[in-house]
Amino acid sequence: MTILGLGRMGTALSRALLTARYRTTVWNRTPSKAGGLVGLGAERAETPGAAIAASPMTIICVADYDGVQEVLDAGRAALRERTLVNLTTGTPQDARAMATRVAGRGAAYLDGAMMAVPQSVATPSAFFLYSGSPDAFDRHRHTLDALATSHYLGNDPAAAELWDFALLGSGYAALTGFLHSLALLDTEGVPPSRFVPLVAQWLHGMTEYMSELAREIESGDYSAGVSPVGMNQVAVESLTRVSEHLGIDAEVLGPLRALLERGVARGHGDESFASLFELLRQRPSQLPGHDVGPTIARTR
Ligand SMILES: NC(=O)c1ccc[n+]([C@@H]2O[C@H](COP(=O)([O-])OP(=O)(O)OC[C@H]3O[C@@H](n4cnc5c(N)ncnc54)[C@H](OP(=O)(O)O)[C@@H]3O)[C@@H](O)[C@H]2O)c1
Repeated sequence: MTILGLGRMGTALSRALLTARYRTTVWNRTPSKAGGLVGLGAERAETPGAAIAASPMTIICVADYDGVQEVLDAGRAALRERTLVNLTTGTPQDARAMATRVAGRGAAYLDGAMMAVPQSVATPSAFFLYSGSPDAFDRHRHTLDALATSHYLGNDPAAAELWDFALLGSGYAALTGFLHSLALLDTEGVPPSRFVPLVAQWLHGMTEYMSELAREIESGDYSAGVSPVGMNQVAVESLTRVSEHLGIDAEVLGPLRALLERGVARGHGDESFASLFELLRQRPSQLPGHDVGPTIARTR
């Protein structure tokens, strides 16, 4: 197999392939970064074209899609009848455009997203998302599984990037809330590590609650929710007041406060928390009377 790009992730991917005993060819713009991998048994190619030609499947993992484009331009002649797996982070639009370009050069294309950090590659916590050519995924799945658990999301090459952003969004919201919680507890000198076991149990319970929210959204019936929007609005207002009283920054709660206020103003107060999805799926400018919705700024 071939890896183009030996930054933090490309190096970890190469190591995983070598550990799984795949014959591995590597190339990097700055050639010296290949040294350690050559010591582990990798073959170093002089050019992207030589690297692509060396293997049926090439994984590219560079900083961004402009870099992918540059590298593939240099190696384009070798792409015919090869498979390219692009693990570089980009947008869904980037992925579709790249799939078209790569298909034009006669190669099969899989776009991918790595739900991992370098040190978690090839460990049970890592999983990678793929979308694009189903044949290419079937053909190379065994190899891809050496990097992380593989999830194939369908033949639209944009899917992996879209799901990546969806997972990032949930992750950032949870981590931002976690940091806010730590700031709250810090006012009483509680060390972060003491909080971790309880917040982990709490968030685990939340993942079960997500299944319930998903069922409500899929049915479109928000009437039976045990956690209505109005009740949550009161809770988040209290959380904000407590935070401000303790002198900590409550800014991260602002968007949620605004959403809950909007939900109550639109008549969702007695409906499940899941009903807020109906507001989020529309841009504010598409909502009726969007300019009259209450905002945090106006309530202060
Ligand atoms: N690090 C993570 O935890 C993580 C997790 C998930 C996803 N990702 C994604 O994985 C990708 C790589 O991340 P990384 O952390 O490995 O980055 P990195 O350590 O900064 O390495 C960047 C790599 O891209 C190469 N590169 C940049 N511009 C290039 C160009 N124009 N032409 C050729 N090569 C170019 C660099 O080559 P040189 O060595 O010559 O500079 C280097 O090999 C990114 O899209 C990132 O978003 C990273």
